[in-house]
Amino acid sequence: MIQVWNGADRRIYMQEVGTRDGLQVEEAFVPTHDKIALVDALSEAGMAKIEVTAFVSPKAIPALRDAETVLREIKRIPGVIYSTLVPNVRGAERAIDAHADELNLVMSASETHNLANLRMTRAQSFAALSEVSAIAQAAKVSVNISLSCSFGCPMEGDVPDAVALDWCERFVTEIGARGVTLCDTTGMAYPGQVAKLTRAFRERWPESELTLHFHNTRGMGLANVLAGIDAGADRFDASLGGIGGCPYAPGASGNVCSEEIVHALELMGYRTGVDLALLIAASKRLPGLIGHDTPSQIVKAGRRLDLHPVPADFEATRERALARGR
Ligand code: COA
Ligand code: ZN
Repeated sequence: MIQVWNGADRRIYMQEVGTRDGLQVEEAFVPTHDKIALVDALSEAGMAKIEVTAFVSPKAIPALRDAETVLREIKRIPGVIYSTLVPNVRGAERAIDAHADELNLVMSASETHNLANLRMTRAQSFAALSEVSAIAQAAKVSVNISLSCSFGCPMEGDVPDAVALDWCERFVTEIGARGVTLCDTTGMAYPGQVAKLTRAFRERWPESELTLHFHNTRGMGLANVLAGIDAGADRFDASLGGIGGCPYAPGASGNVCSEEIVHALELMGYRTGVDLALLIAASKRLPGLIGHDTPSQIVKAGRRLDLHPVPADFEATRERALARGR
């Protein structure tokens, strides 16, 4: 029944969102060359996809005002998909110009959250997404649509699965999106719910690229990833150091932490294609860039078998113990 404890070499695609979902909420402006170096380190570490930046209004998100330079100057490793968040036609034109591999468009499954976050009704957002997608598709750039609040809205409460699935239906059939991301924007998802929605999506659209995007707001991040895998998902967003959060979601906290997820999945026998040592080294650069520690437990505690030296008085202790006899 539950296969989740034995990865049996199954491939799981890790998608980094720290340089977008993470840096967008940081007060410190991370210098452009440091952002580029960070993305390059993530590519080297073997992330399957990287959401490099966002082509949004620089007034709304000043932290990402250097989107063009970053996307143009990173090293492109073949096979890695360099994605970017785009809110409107203006953003799409900028992103296509800077050679994005994929545009990630966003709307919310919740009317209230959509109005609060994007200042539009869902119907207006959908019409705008359609227009932006047409521009991307004409430029042969693939389109992913992220559905915020797929597992609940911090203002409305539960979002019925049927509502989330109806929007997915329209993304796949009307827009022809290659991928859909079900986002748990404010950490309301729990494993049973994740399994149910993932299974429903997989049954209806087996050919679509499904990504699950969790925040660790209530400590259920890894449990939700495992439930998603068990239900057939193989792509997960995560952020280096576990940084991040939507600026308009009350009480939001970081994404699930890339190095924590890779560490756990590799131990369980999944194949992520990620070099954990390189990923941890990249994560250790973050505090110097953003001016504070990150939530990463792997940076704090080390990997499971990063052993510690015995205490200085260990030999003396052993001798005393042996001298006492049995
Ligand atoms: N790139 C650059 N500038 C943009 C832009 C884009 N993609 N979209 C809008 N702008 C600029 C406009 O030129 C305008 O600038 P001006 O005041 O100098 O004339 C200003 O932003 C406002 O534009 P407007 O069309 O009135 O949009 P808006 O105020 O309704 O803003 C958003 C809508 C969503 C585009 C903007 O608020 C935004 O980029 N927000 C960020 C959303 C986000 O990233 N959220 C977190 C992820 S969930
Ligand atoms: Zn998010």
